[in-house]
Order: sequence, then C-alpha cells, then structure tokens
Amino acid sequence: MSLVPAYGISQLRDLQLERLRWTLRHAYDNVPHYRQAFAAAGVTPDDLRELGDLARFPFTAKADLRANYPFGMFAVPRAEVSRIHASSGTTGKPTVVGYTAEDIRTWSEVMARSIEAAGGRAGDIVHIAYGYGLFTGGLGAHYGAERLGCTVVPVSGGMTERQVQLIVDFEPRVIMVTPSYFLGILDEMVRQGVDPKATSLEIGIFGAEPWTEQMRQEVQRRSNVRAVDIYGLSEVMGPGVSQESGETQDGLHIWEDHFYPEVVDPVTGEVLPDGADGELVFTSLTKQAMPVIRYRTRDLTRLDPGTAYPAFRRMAKITGRSDDMMIVRGVNVFPSQIEEQLLRVDGLTPHYLCVLTRPGHMDELTVRVERRPEADAAVAVDAARLLRKRVKDIVGVTIAVDVVEPHALERSLGKARRIDDQRGLRPTR
Ligand code: DLL
Repeated sequence: MSLVPAYGISQLRDLQLERLRWTLRHAYDNVPHYRQAFAAAGVTPDDLRELGDLARFPFTAKADLRANYPFGMFAVPRAEVSRIHASSGTTGKPTVVGYTAEDIRTWSEVMARSIEAAGGRAGDIVHIAYGYGLFTGGLGAHYGAERLGCTVVPVSGGMTERQVQLIVDFEPRVIMVTPSYFLGILDEMVRQGVDPKATSLEIGIFGAEPWTEQMRQEVQRRSNVRAVDIYGLSEVMGPGVSQESGETQDGLHIWEDHFYPEVVDPVTGEVLPDGADGELVFTSLTKQAMPVIRYRTRDLTRLDPGTAYPAFRRMAKITGRSDDMMIVRGVNVFPSQIEEQLLRVDGLTPHYLCVLTRPGHMDELTVRVERRPEADAAVAVDAARLLRKRVKDIVGVTIAVDVVEPHALERSLGKARRIDDQRGLRPTR
C-alpha cells in the first residue's frame, strides 16, 4: 500500500481548513511574535472562515526568525522540543528551527512518502550523501528512509573517494544527494575507473539547490540514474515538503495535508492564481514546535494541478531564489538560465561559476566554466563563442566566458556556490 494518502480534493480542502484553524490558534496563543503581528494586521485566528481568508494574515520572513533568535518562535515549552536544526545564514546568526517528537514523526512520514514517490521501496539500500548535522538534509532523509523500511547508509557529504567505494561495495539502489555533489561523485567514479553507467544506482533524489532540466538530462545520460527533484526548507520542515514522482518527472507534488502553499507577487505580496509565476509562501498545518504562518520562501515557482497524486498540487521546478537574481546592466539573470544554456554547448561541463565584477561603472558577468576532459583548446574556443551567443540571444545579456581546465573550479560537497559577486570589493568611483 502506498504511503501517499489518496484524498479527494474537497476532502483535502476540509482537512486543510481544520488544520489551518488549529495552527493559527496555536501560533497566536503561544508565540508572542504572532500575537503582535496578528494584532498589527488587525486579525485574530477567528477571522479565518475559509482558506482564502489566509490572505488577510501577515507574512513571516527570515528576519522575523532572526529577530527571535534562538528559541523565540517556539510554540511549546523548550523541554518538549526534541530536536534543533539550523541553517547557516551567509551573514549573521543562523536560523534556528525546532521539532517535537511528533513533528519528527510527521517529517519522517512525509520524507518516506517522498522516497516512495521517487520510486524507492522498502528493502532498498539508500545511500545518503546529504550533510548530517544542523543541516536538515542528512537526518531528514535518514528518518524518512528508515520509516519507509529501507537499509540506510548514512555517509553524509564529503570524502568523495569513499563515497564511490561504498556505492561499489554496498550496491545501493537509491542515492540522496545534492545534484552538484552527485556530479562530483560521477567524476570521481571515472577517475577510479568505475563506469558510472554500470553501478547499482537506479534512483537519485536530488535537491537542496536549484538544478535545471538540462542538468537532469546530463545526469541521466552519464549515469543511468533516474533523477528526481525533492524540495524543502528548514523553516517549513526540511526536505520532504514536496517531491517529484519518479514516473512522471513533471514537477513536485506538495504534501498539502501538512504544508499549505500560496504563490504571491514578490513585490506587492498579492496572492496570485494557480498557474502564475511568483514567490512561494508556506503555512505549516501540523507543526507543533515551530508553526510558520505565511513564510516567504523567496523561491520562485508556480502552482500546477496534481498528476501522479491528483489531490496534491505541484510546484514547477524552482528557477531561482529572488536572492540569487543577478542584475547585469539592468537585465535580471539567474544562474539556472546560464546552466540551461551551457549544457546545450558541446565541450562544456556543468561545473560553473558566475563571477560579477564592476571594472568601471558597468556590471560585468563572466561565466567561468570547465571544459570537458575530451574537448581540446579549439573546441573550448568555439564553445565559449557559442555560449556567449546563446546567452545574448536567449537571456538577453552580454557576458564574458572563461573556459577553464577540468577540475579548476572548487567542487561542492553540498549546496553549490554559483555566484561570486566581487563588486563590493572595489570602489566604484
Ligand atoms: O536545503 C532542505 C533540503 C535538503 C531540501 C535536502 C532538499 C534536499 P535549507 O538549507 O533551509 O533546506 O535551504 C532551503 O534551498 O528555500 C531553496 O532555495 C533551496 N532548495 C531546496 N530544495 C530545492 C530544490 C534544505 N529541489 C532552500 N530546487 C530553499 C531548488 C531548492 N532549490
């Protein structure tokens, strides 16, 4: 029997309404931040009569979590919190999140569902190369795989040589890892003389960072692994908020019985209809330790109807975070748009970095990208020219391309860094 509940849509909406009421009340009664924010917006939990009323409630942003560092957003006594995770901010304090024992059970359940939706089954060996620790990736995947009844290999990230050895020796069917680190593992296989197409791996559950359809093709071409997308964020739970089906590979089903999605205009905050592109916002429906109300994810996507699991809406693959948007001479560019183009050019690899500089008054974007080992200097020159042209024609911005030697760029062991913004380092006159 499937772990994914087969709700009818109206049944799911009723359940969401009931759970949303509980969540608003729980947050309002137990978290001073929500009590004040609701008061400032002139609402109380009783103002929610139907799901659409949620739009009257205030948003929550990362800054609110920081302002209440470390435990101020908890809605239960600290002693009832059985686990803490944190996401490292690029600046300042980390964002802290907490879970009750029941929250951990819920998380395990949605993660188990996710692995099943990807194609994993009880009895499979699951190699987990997401980092273990304060990051939610490793432990989140771990508890889910155990709940599904898998044999879990908790490798964590790093020590790439050993990752390959364990894959060869233990013969896992499923690997859970960031897509950028999986590419590093594939390169290491080649280095060790292991054929990436001949391993036991059949399913890769890839997330924690944006990756494109072109990257999916690249991974599947090189490894015979079926590459499926998993999404989540610490503030809402961790991995397992939404999951792509391994059969349909057509976007990520949001586990809406636990996480209520909205897509809003990132500037005005207005709720957009399904199908429109905007910023994803989540309200937790069952979380005890740290309920979140209308949390602004900064992730850009749209909501589409369910397919493999009809009651659950899907979110389209994330094209980028509003934080990752580069503005180059007035044109908005996401690293994913560059990735999409460079994987269409012969001779280039998906190992790349977008370097932003401002030599004079104008921003410059240089895409530094590794050539394929088999591509010689002449191929690299052509590839650079072609990438420049494609980005100019399709994205609409002029870039410089710097094709570098294989392995010249720093490899990610987790989330890849795609932007190196050096503009702050120089005076602009
Ligand atoms: O990255 C949780 C996670 C772990 C998800 C393992 C999937 C697999 P955070 O560190 O809090 O949590 O980062 C969350 O990462 O807001 C997105 O910007 C990005 N992200 C996560 N999954 C995807 C994905 C984990 N599939 C932030 N595609 C999110 C694109 C993703 N971006």
